[in-house]
Amino acid sequence: MRRSQLYVPANNEQKIRKSVTLDADEIILDLEDAVPQAEKQKARDLVKSLFHELDWGKKAIWIRANPPTTNHFLKDLELVSSLDALYGVVIPKAEESVTWVNELCEKSLMPLIETPRGLLSLEKLVRSEGVVAVGYGAADFALFVGGSVTQYSSNVYIKSALVITASAYGVDAVDNVFFDLSDIEGFVRQAQEARALGFVGKQVIHPTQIPHANRIFSPTEEEVSWAKSVIQAYEEAESKGKGALKVQDKLVDAVHYRIARRILDAYERLEK
Ligand code: COA
Ligand code: MG
Repeated sequence: MRRSQLYVPANNEQKIRKSVTLDADEIILDLEDAVPQAEKQKARDLVKSLFHELDWGKKAIWIRANPPTTNHFLKDLELVSSLDALYGVVIPKAEESVTWVNELCEKSLMPLIETPRGLLSLEKLVRSEGVVAVGYGAADFALFVGGSVTQYSSNVYIKSALVITASAYGVDAVDNVFFDLSDIEGFVRQAQEARALGFVGKQVIHPTQIPHANRIFSPTEEEVSWAKSVIQAYEEAESKGKGALKVQDKLVDAVHYRIARRILDAYERLEK
């Protein structure tokens, strides 16, 4: 599950320690934009010393490296390779195949689409070896095209492209961060729109956003109860040679059965 991916500045010991206690499904220790140039090495050293000391429980831990075009990137990858239990590398401003990164560090990868060229290479990026998820950096994207962060933060064209390409290759699309910490309603609305498009979760930056993301990207009680009735009714009908039936006054056929199965699978994965 990647309903919530929490960014934590990798040079901030208090926040790293705090992240262990929070309910985010995944943690992203950020070596990129949350860390000033002069602090990059300190941040790597801090991650190296804390990583094994802390008990991360079931959380998957990522490192967001600096962009592949910077001279920080290979040092970040050295750190990544030295941490056996690290789950993967988030690659910001990715613009071309990242298979070479997987060959170097053998970790799961999550490229971020944050530039026009990244968007134009979306399919190549998603099909790279090791890629399990793809994300979207709306603020950087807005900066690159000269648009506003607000518009690009909810840009349906880009978000649809991400979900469509990701699902074509069995990869998870994760929605972008929402910067206004005082606007939980806005966060919730954006997360609901993302879920409706097919995103599996949302990147978050503050503890208050975590429970909302976890809830919105989980099946609701109504969905689960609908799914159970559809599965039961459909299987019963099918055994009598019927493929189309009525459940709660709506048509149910094979596609609704598949949707119901998907909801129930997600629910059962969460219950484990
Ligand atoms: N990870 C872990 N803990 C966090 C956190 C985060 N991302 N954001 C806030 N917290 C903790 C604080 O340390 C504080 O802990 P405490 O109550 O034990 O002292 C508590 O949650 C409340 O935080 P608050 O005082 O409201 O915020 P802050 O001023 O400490 O931090 C930000 C605000 C924006 C600086 C912080 O949320 C942050 O660094 N977010 C991530 C930024 C980032 O990684 N950006 C890169 C990707 S966009
Ligand atoms: Mg960015």
